Amino acid sequence: MSLRKVDPNNWLTYDSAYEKEHLDKLKYMNGEMHDEVVQVLPNADDSCEELLQIIVEYITRRYPDMFKLDGDDIVIVPMKERYRVRAPYDRHPMEVAGLLVMDDLYVLHLGELDRYYLRACFLACPSGWRLKDRIGWPLHQMHGPVPTWKEKLQKSMEKFFLHIKVDGAIQRNNVFIQPCPGIFHQEPMDQNPPSKTVEDIEIRTELQSLRRLPRTGAVVFTVRTYMNPLTDLGKEPMALNRLWDAVRNYPDKTAAYKVRHLWTDIFEKYCCSILGRGNPDQGLLEEQD
Ligand code: HEM
Repeated sequence: MSLRKVDPNNWLTYDSAYEKEHLDKLKYMNGEMHDEVVQVLPNADDSCEELLQIIVEYITRRYPDMFKLDGDDIVIVPMKERYRVRAPYDRHPMEVAGLLVMDDLYVLHLGELDRYYLRACFLACPSGWRLKDRIGWPLHQMHGPVPTWKEKLQKSMEKFFLHIKVDGAIQRNNVFIQPCPGIFHQEPMDQNPPSKTVEDIEIRTELQSLRRLPRTGAVVFTVRTYMNPLTDLGKEPMALNRLWDAVRNYPDKTAAYKVRHLWTDIFEKYCCSILGRGNPDQGLLEEQD
């Protein structure tokens, strides 16, 4: 499991999708979808408040043209919006935090059996699950569907979580090939029909980070999701070749988890046509090692 230190300049990042995703979040939060996107369990208000303070401090320093403090308000300059960042709040601190960033935000508290439990979450990019079902779950239950979690990762991860340091933020990446477009998927991915054309397939890349909050000791997990059409990868043959090789080598359980059966035919044809061969080029892969 490849974990690395977070580059402090790149903990929270933005791109041109911010405005659209922000408007989608407001629409969800102001309507019937509210509880599908935001959940805060009892006793988590304090850590959400701390998370908001840390985000505000970070983004006003790192992106001063985009975010400005004005008294007890933060102003989101491109959206012409303002929110209180001190009590009394006009929205719950977790909602404000979610509106300020492009990442999904998870707050975990230490609980029974020395395990971490999801106590609050802002989830605008679900990848096949429902927040309402999983709020309150411990880490191992959350990873129930993940191949090898129970056998290989659970013990070491539970230990690892106990030792996350305030100044030791770490990150990891995850790549999914999605058989259908779109960033918001609550239904399990395997319930989608097989992709029919290359335009159906999107690459979902997640950049995830973990850190501990200094005051409350809660652990914060962030997930920044990038969606790109598969056809964008066609412009980067080395990257496409690498992905092709990786997906062909998925163990069976990983292939099922990553719903390879739903996109593999179209994906293979696309790789063959763009790369002009029937198999990933091992020479190309070795050159990069
Ligand atoms: C270092 C910490 C973590 C590691 C190594 C890890 C690892 C993984 C892996 C391997 C997967 C399968 C997909 C993939 O390849 O990424 C996964 C999925 C997932 N992880 Fe984590 N994870 C970590 C932390 C967390 C935390 C803190 C949460 C939040 C409570 C979380 C929630 C999830 C969820 C919701 C899924 C999707 C499960 C599904 O398919 O239903 N992960 N994680």
